[in-house]
Order: sequence, then C-alpha cells, then structure tokens
Amino acid sequence: MKTIDIDLPANGYPVYLGRGLLSEGGCWRRHLGAGDVLIVSNETVAPLYLETLLEALADRSPEVHVLPDGEQYKTVETWQGIIDRLVGMQARRDANLVALGGGVVGDITGFAAASYMRGIRFLQSPTTLLAQVDASVGGKTGVNHERGKNLIGAFHQPATVVIDSATLDTLPAREFNAGLAEVVKYGAICDAPFFDWLEENAGAIVDRDESAIDTLVERSVRNKAEIVRQDEKEAGIRALLNLGHSFGHALESETAYRRFLHGEAVAIGMVTAARLSERRGLCPAGTSTRLVRLLSRFELPVAIPADLDVDALASALSLDKKAVASGLRLVLLHAIGDAAVDSDSHADEIRAALEENRS
Ligand code: NAD
Ligand code: GLY
Repeated sequence: MKTIDIDLPANGYPVYLGRGLLSEGGCWRRHLGAGDVLIVSNETVAPLYLETLLEALADRSPEVHVLPDGEQYKTVETWQGIIDRLVGMQARRDANLVALGGGVVGDITGFAAASYMRGIRFLQSPTTLLAQVDASVGGKTGVNHERGKNLIGAFHQPATVVIDSATLDTLPAREFNAGLAEVVKYGAICDAPFFDWLEENAGAIVDRDESAIDTLVERSVRNKAEIVRQDEKEAGIRALLNLGHSFGHALESETAYRRFLHGEAVAIGMVTAARLSERRGLCPAGTSTRLVRLLSRFELPVAIPADLDVDALASALSLDKKAVASGLRLVLLHAIGDAAVDSDSHADEIRAALEENRS
C-alpha cells in the first residue's frame, strides 16, 4: 500500500493506493468518526463491491443507500434523497458518509456530507479511473443544475480516500479511456515528463498492464495533491485543472449529458484549447497534433462532431461558471507541461478554434 498525503493547513488527509484495499478494515477504521455510517453507492457498483466494503466495516453496522446510475441523476433530487435518509436515521454531526463509486456518486455524496448539519465526515472509495485520478481528491463536491454542470456545490475535503486499483478490473473500456483524458491533462498542464512517459507507455496502458496503471494513478494523484496543496479553493493555480473543461462542459450540456462521457468531452475540449492556443501564438505549432496523437491512442474523441452547432456551443460557453464578465476565462497551453489561465481570447478566435476542431 502507498500513501499520498494531501497536505492542507486545516484539513489534510491521506490517499491510500493499492490492490484489494477495499477490504482493509484498518484503512477505514482509522478515519471513521464515532457516529452512524451510511455507504452511498449506485446500482452498478453496489453488486460488484458493496459486499466487500460491508464486510470490512461490519463492526460499524453501516446502512446503505443505492442511487440510480448516471450523470443525469447528479441532481438536487438525488442529493435530497441522501439527506432524507440521514434524517430518517437520525444521524448526528458525528455521522459518516462513505462514497463507493465513480465521480457521480462521489460528487453527490460529498455534497450531502458538506451540507448535512453544515458538514459531516466524508470518506471516498473511487471505483473509476477518472474518480481515482481526479474527482475523489481535492474536496470539490456538487450536483448539476439543468442550466449547467456542477452549478450547485461546496468544497468539502474527505477524511480519507481509499483507492483499490483492483476495482478497475471491471471498468468498461470506454469508461477507462475517459479517465485517461484527465490523466493526459496532468501531463499537458504541469508535467511534461509524465506526458512523455504516457506516449512511451501507451501500449501497456491500453493493454491495462497493472504496473503501468499503478504508475499513472500514483503520478496523477501526486500532481493533483501538489496543485490542491498550493490552492485548495481555486483562487489561482488549481484553475489549470480545468484545461478543456469549459469547452467540454459546453459539449456536455449541448448534448444533454447523454452523448459524451465527461472525460470524452474534456478530451475534445483540450484539443480545442490547444488549437486556440496555437492560433493565439501562445504555444508552438504542433502542440495540438501531439495531444491528438496521444488521446487517439486511448481511443478518445478529439474533434467536435459535425452535427453540433458552433453557435449553440459558443453561447453555452458563456454560461460556464469559469466565464467572467470581462471575457471568457480559459486555460490555454504555452507548451506541453505549461498552461495558464487567459481571458484575452476574442470571441471570433474562440469561434474559429471551435470551427477548426470540427470533424
Ligand atoms: P460515473 O461516476 O458516472 O461512473 C462511470 C460509470 O462507471 C457508471 O456507469 C458507473 O456506475 C460505472 N462504474 C463505476 N465504477 C465501476 C467499476 N469499478 N466497474 C464497473 N463499472 C463501474 O463517472 P466518472 O467518470 O467516474 O465521473 C464523472 C463525474 O465526476 C462527473 O459528474 C464530473 O463532473 C465529476 N468530476 C468531479 C471532479 C471533482 O473534482 N469533484 C473532477 C472530475 C470529474
Ligand atoms: N477537477 C478539477 C478540480 O478538482 O479542481
């Protein structure tokens, strides 16, 4: 087992990584508070892994709340269901919420933990690659509004994150690849040697070589840990983690969250951002080609499908919560491994980059 500390002034915590950790009662017991335990999972993950977690926590007699599966259920209504359950249990402030699942389960459960009685203890066991390398670490929680993604939420750091890499064995290929988009993102924004490593090891990663996957999860979590350590509440550098996300969120909302997985939309968004960066002369020509080549090795989409309307995407972009009044705030690339937040793109340059990145 490896441990990566999320080093924060008031609310730091360990992320544990290893195969079979879900059943390691010790990992959990160290971080559970004295009160009731409610495990939140979903209808896909629960049949696979709930029994193992229930056994590990048997001495705490946890209750279980199972959500329907899908981003379309990342809503206030689903959040309300968890709150109702806690109220029904007469849970007190020393209660614990444990999220077992991907980023959707983690974000909703984290938001319930952030808001119930102004904040109760929250533990995470992420079971998708995307949740292991990104969503479970750093304390962003929330649900979607019909007008935009993650518009309702709070920062609420977990007490611990337990990453059992064996859970990835059952993850469908499309979901695994979507997680790789967020992995590539770390290379693109702040870790050029990692980007090189991903290029060199793409074959082993696609073949799901255990050691390659352990390496990429660990390296991603270390990158995220360092960024969150420097900027817990996204006042500065943490915004770099949004590379590709403004374009990605526009793609997701324009397709009613049904056509693209989050990571797929981010992959297209990162390439669009790279094309805009090149167009603006901020990064060397060829940067977007390198990104396209690596994302394509992971069978990720890289271009905006021709049937999507650029006008609709452009107006969805201005609703993204990363926009600011004075101009669209975007993460752009200066090179692979070097990104910055930028508000100086003209609307016609953004539109041209969207057009250029259509298939
Ligand atoms: P997800 O939670 O929908 O999981 C993807 C699918 O995989 C689901 O059908 C799920 O049931 C299934 N699944 C999960 N684990 C499995 C396993 N081990 N075996 C088989 N199937 C499994 O999607 P996701 O990609 O994990 O997360 C996306 C969400 O995360 C989005 O809502 C996004 O906004 C959010 N997110 C949050 C942050 C953050 O910092 N909080 C960061 C990135 C993304
Ligand atoms: N996934 C973006 C963040 O955690 O800040």
